[in-house]
Amino acid sequence: MKLYVVHGINLDQLGTRQPEIYGTQTLSDQWAVWTGWLAKHWPGVELEALQFNDEAACIRFLQEVDGPEVGVVLNPGAWTHSSIPLRDCVAGLKAAVIEVHLSHTYAREAFRRVSLLAPYTQGTISGLGWQGYRLAMEALLTAQMH
Ligand code: DQA
Repeated sequence: MKLYVVHGINLDQLGTRQPEIYGTQTLSDQWAVWTGWLAKHWPGVELEALQFNDEAACIRFLQEVDGPEVGVVLNPGAWTHSSIPLRDCVAGLKAAVIEVHLSHTYAREAFRRVSLLAPYTQGTISGLGWQGYRLAMEALLTAQMH
């Protein structure tokens, strides 16, 4: 399985963006954690991590890399709650997708309790911080997702 960790809008700002909610770690800090963990426990599994502020580019990327042997850990940021185009994209993918949120979206504002994408994912992890990404990768690599 080829793994992708895909981040949506504003998540390039992690580290400095609302640290009281999202912490002080950056995506590149986490890249080192993910690749170290994979090399130790899942040698040979390839990982690519990307972040998009451009919704069309994000959708194009997911469509291009899609396939039955693909696993996607997807944190869409605010697109979770607003994007019908991304929802339609995820609905059409053959890849297994797990939605991850750093913060506990169900314990925040009401609009964050709705995910337009969730019905088309294998599952959602919300509120476990960066640990959620490792758990999602582990689920994609161990579970029979299709
Ligand atoms: C987020 C939660 C979203 O509601 C928010 O818009 C984000 C980050 C999270 O990881 O907690 O940008 O996806």
